Order: sequence, then structure tokens, then C-alpha cells
Amino acid sequence: MSRKDDKEADAFESDQASEAQIAVHWREEGYYSPSAKFIGQANASDPSINERFSEKNFPECFKEYADLLTWDKYWHTTLDTSNAPFWKWFVGGRLNASYNCVDRHLATDRNKAAIIWVPEPEDEDTEVLTYQELYVRVNEFAALLKGFCGVEIGDVATFHMPMVPDLPIAMLACARLGVIHSQVFGGFSGSACGGRIADSKSKILVTIDGYYRNGELQDHKVKADEAIARALEEGVTVEKVLVFRRNPGEYASKSPMVPGRDFFVDEIMPDYKGKLVDPVSMPAEAPLFIMYSSGTTGKPKGCQHSTGGYLAYVTGTSKYYQDIHPEDTYWCAADIGWITGHSYIVYGPLALGTTTVMYEGVPTYPDAGRMWRIAERLGVTTFHTAPTTIRTLRKLGPDEPAKYNYHFKHMTTVGEPIEPEVWRWYYDVVGKGEAVIVDTWWQTENGGFLGSTLPALNPMKPGSCGPAVIGIFPKILDENGDEVIAGSGRAGNICIRNPWPGIFQTIWGDPDRFVKTYYEKYNRDPKSTDWHDWPYFANDGAMQAADGYYRILGRVDDVINVSGHRLGTKELESAALMVDEVAEAAAVPVVDEVRGHAVEIYIAVKPGVNAEGVADKVSRMIESEIGKIARPKNVWIVADMPKTRSGKIMRRVIASISNFTDVGDITTLANPDVVTDIRHFVESEKVARGEQPRDLSAAEMESIVNFGSEG
Ligand code: WTA
Repeated sequence: MSRKDDKEADAFESDQASEAQIAVHWREEGYYSPSAKFIGQANASDPSINERFSEKNFPECFKEYADLLTWDKYWHTTLDTSNAPFWKWFVGGRLNASYNCVDRHLATDRNKAAIIWVPEPEDEDTEVLTYQELYVRVNEFAALLKGFCGVEIGDVATFHMPMVPDLPIAMLACARLGVIHSQVFGGFSGSACGGRIADSKSKILVTIDGYYRNGELQDHKVKADEAIARALEEGVTVEKVLVFRRNPGEYASKSPMVPGRDFFVDEIMPDYKGKLVDPVSMPAEAPLFIMYSSGTTGKPKGCQHSTGGYLAYVTGTSKYYQDIHPEDTYWCAADIGWITGHSYIVYGPLALGTTTVMYEGVPTYPDAGRMWRIAERLGVTTFHTAPTTIRTLRKLGPDEPAKYNYHFKHMTTVGEPIEPEVWRWYYDVVGKGEAVIVDTWWQTENGGFLGSTLPALNPMKPGSCGPAVIGIFPKILDENGDEVIAGSGRAGNICIRNPWPGIFQTIWGDPDRFVKTYYEKYNRDPKSTDWHDWPYFANDGAMQAADGYYRILGRVDDVINVSGHRLGTKELESAALMVDEVAEAAAVPVVDEVRGHAVEIYIAVKPGVNAEGVADKVSRMIESEIGKIARPKNVWIVADMPKTRSGKIMRRVIASISNFTDVGDITTLANPDVVTDIRHFVESEKVARGEQPRDLSAAEMESIVNFGSEG
């Protein structure tokens, strides 16, 4: 059988399995309605908004979002498709993102809180940055970047920062100068950061000596040294490292400062105190930032986002879907190191002139009541977090929210599917039955939401993100490109038919991969400049119920979603292969009560090699190459992997074993016998480690049986 036949056979098998399983496990949930009180104050409470953003008004409908911003020069063309699928939005327009998020609020709101920062140690005071203070600090840091580092328009600056106010300040300082920022999640390893520095060819690294996590001051600067070494291996030399200090006058790291390369920000800042820097008027199409994300190959993709389109999209969706009002106290408990933080902690909320809360630490430190104490103390009105956090808080402190006197009007969930039971706890206990919930589906590539209910206009349905957001027109396609009947409840690949302003512009430095990954699959005419010919392939499985609501079933590519964070199987496997003894490695998802999915790794060692201690080495290597979040739940050393006749590892089969589920038809395998051996070994080991089989929900089942392209 050829590789193609194998693929087709496998696609067919998994189709069969998922349809059957859905029939068994699927259950429609009932609706919940927003309160009259919420509707009365909502930004979008008039159903005519759906008409304004209907397909016949596309693309001009997005003028409504762009008009929320202050433009230096108005655009002449709303959407230019001449170089499809590299869409250009608001062409001819000019603006500055930092001006829009900071300066323009000074006239009315100079001394209103822009950012409230909550340090992890509970005895440390919260820090309030007014819009005026934010303005001063953004200007000073911009002056430093320009004067001390000599940055120029279009340069890239990499940040490897935790949740401290210096991070949004530095982002806005870059935006002020037309410098592209590339923030790498602080929890990623130095090596992962170095790979991203090299890919973006950034000459500057902005970091910090340390930060608090779970009550401990982490040594973070040490990661900068690893990052720089790794970037150098890949041929990129970092010239300057700017090091903030978490605690003034102290140094939290053991890593020495390298003379001529490493500088404490507080020591060079006096030269730039009080300096102002004019915001540079940037073309709408100028890149604002890069955000790396995992995909099918080992190399993370630098998703390049625009200034005008991106900012318009996050501002519009923040207004209508987050229902942000200037007088709100809005708290998105995500990390700014992820796209959610960029769009819905920093850019969207600040463009709307609201108060945005940032928390440094872990949600359960020092106990499961911490989040609710913060909410009570700050009078948070609007709360935003991920299912993994909700599951953790529900597990560790199911009765905690009731002990605190806070009242949310609006809550968001993002990043992975939320189980209906968990949704109901969020609604009843966290939201006290008073808050509306939006379940927002989207991706790093998208800039902002793609699927969600409009909170005052659509009822909520637990477990479904809702309809597409306004101005977004999805369709579900099967493997052959045929449309799955809308509202049929049948699974397929969700695609967005049209471009939208928040869509990323390209993969940094790799336009071919951009086209190949997101458009090639369903494009029938590569020369077409008509957007109708270019559906965006989201790499997510989904189904649409008869009411038009979508249920997102998870990734159809080789990505494992751990606590809402995307980890590529190839990245995990390449790290495992760096251990000398390892001959082959395969990473698969395993359903996890709290994290949604966790990673399991299967290893075959080289012939004649002693496997003793290899599992530990693999775990440690993954942690140092990627970061703690990628640490595998289990590493299984097996004699051989199940493979297709063309020699490709069948991850779907081992994923089923790891999840105690049926492996399905394995007659197309070259070595079907190994499956029984592996199953016997893994299942008995798991039981010995206290893991028990349990029934998976339809969504969980989908995420396993559809997992992974073979390769
Ligand atoms: C998944 C996060 C179900 C999905 C903003 C997507 C979701 C990936 C949801 C993107 C949701 C995100 N329901 N699944 N509400 N939101 N996902 O790039 O598989 O970190 O492709 O962006 O998370 O993750 P990313």
C-alpha cells in the first residue's frame, strides 16, 4: 500500500470511529440566558449588529472596528486581496498602537488606573499605573530603547518576561517606535527562547532577574544566558540584554552580568528619566509583533500581526464580546506571553481605556481562594480565564468563591474546550449565577475571537463556543473539500471563508509555509485574487449543531493542547531525540483531569543500549528544551513502535493505548502484533501508578481518535 493509501485508510477509520463515538456520547446541553441587568448595560444589545456585519456588508463592516481607533491618516482601501492570501487591511491608513492605547486617553482619564498589578506575595502592595504614569514609563523605556540600544523602525526585540508591568510597558514602548516585539512566554526554557531569538534575528533581549512563582523567587536571568548561547549556535548574536530587577536594589539571579552585554535597566534609566518620544506614525500594514506558536513541524511559527488590522480587531471584539466599558475593572488572568494576553490584557482593553488587572503568580498561591480575594479587593467586574484554571480551582477550592464578596457581570473562557460540568461550576459558583459567560474559540494566528456568543444577544450553551463572531463566516469541510452540511452535527475541519482584520499576515520569514499550512489544503486556484477561493484552514475539528452553535473538537494536526498551550509533537520528539540513547520518540496526548491534555512520550532505545534512566533523561531534556509545561506525564520505553507499512509511527494508535481506549482497526499496520505488547505494558504500569481507566466524553474521545497526521 502506498503512503497515500495508508493515509486514506487511516482517515476513513478515524472518521468512522468519531462518528460512532459521538452518537454514543453526544448530548445537547440546555441554554442559559443573560440577565436583564447585563443586557441593559451591554455594548452590543441591538440585534441590528448582526445585520451590520452580515456577509453582504463585508469587508466594509470592519470600518466600525477601525473607527474605534484614532488614525493619523485614514485608509483608502478596506481590504486589498491582490496578493492573496496575504491580505492587506486598511491600506493607506496610518496610526500608532502606543498612542491608541495610552496617549489618547490622557485628555479625559489621565489619572485613572490603566494597569493594576498584583504581585504574587500577598503581603506586597498592588501597584497602580495610571494612564499618565503608563505614558511616562512607556516614553522613558522607548527613549532608552532608542538612545541606548539604537533600535530602528522594523527591528525585532525579543522579550522573555513574566507577568510584571515592565512587560506591557516595554511592548508599548516598541509599538511607539515601530519596533516589532516578540514576547516569549516566561515559563519557556532559555533554549526555547534562544530558538525564537534566532528565528526572528533579534539583537536585543529584554528580561528580568527573577519573579515569584508558587512562593519562590525564580532565577530567570540564567535563562537569558542559555537563550543567547542557543541563538549563537544558530548564527544570531544578541548585542544587548536589558535586565529588569524584580526587587529594587537586589539581584535574584546567580548568573553573572556579562560586561558590555548585560545591563540593569534601573542603572541606565536615569539618563532617560522624563524623556518623551513621539509616537511614530506607522502604516496600518506594518507588523506590530510576532508571537511564536507550535505547528506540525518542529520549528515554531512566528505569527506576524499587523498594526491597524490587529488593533482594530482586538478593540472591536473587546468592546462587543468582552463587553468592556471604560469604567470596568477587567481582569484577564492569562499570561501576556500568550496571544490571549497580548490581545485581551494589553491591546484591546487599553485601546478602550479601561482598567486592566495583571497578576504575577499562580492562581492557587497561597491557597485556592487567592483569585477571589483579588477580585473582591479590586472590585473586578469582568473576569477572563482558561478551563484548566477553572478545573484546578474547582478541584482545590470548590466552595471558595462563595466566601468572597465580589460580583462579576461577565466571564470568559478561552483556549480549550470546557466540559459542561466545569462550565456549570464556573457559572453557578464563580459567577454566582449573575455573570454571563462567553466561551471564545480562536488561535494565535487569528489575533482575536472567531467563535463566541454575543453576550447580550445569544443564549449560552455549555460546551459550545456559540456561533461565529460577527464578520466571520465559517464552513466545515471534509477531507475532500466538500462541505459538511451546516447544522448537521457532523464533524469536519472548520475553516473561515473570509479574511478578517485580525488574521496574521504571514509566518515570519516563511511565506511558503504560511500558504501551505493554512490555505493550500482547500484552495483550488493558487492564482486567484478573489478571497472566496481562499478558505482559512484552522487545523481544528468542529461540528455545528442545528442551532448554528459550534463545538470545537480540538486539533487535527500534530499539536497537543496542554492547559490551553500548544505543544508540537515534533518539538517534543526532537527534544527526546537529543538524549543519546534514544532511537525513536513519539509524543501523544493523554486526557488529563485538570490540564485537558498532558503529554506522554513513547521511546525506543538504540540497539544494545541500556534503557535504565532513559525515561528521566527524556523528561529532563524536554524540560530544558521547551519548558516545565511540556514535562511528560509518563515516558514509556517500548521495544518497537506501531508503524504503517511505509514506516510512519501511528501516533493515533499509541494515543488510544495511553487513554485506555480502543485502538480501532490496525490491520493496515506493518507490525500489528506490537500493539498488544505495548497495551499490556502501558496499561499495567498505569494501573500500578494509580491511573484508572474512565469513560471519555465525546469531545475527549474526538481529541484522541483524530490525533495526529501520520509521520
Ligand atoms: C484550542 C488560544 C475549544 C483550539 C487563543 C485552537 C479552543 C487552539 C478554544 C489555539 C475554545 C482555543 N474551545 N478549543 N474556546 N479556544 N481552542 O493558538 O484547538 O494558543 O486551535 O490560541 O486552542 O491555541 P492558541
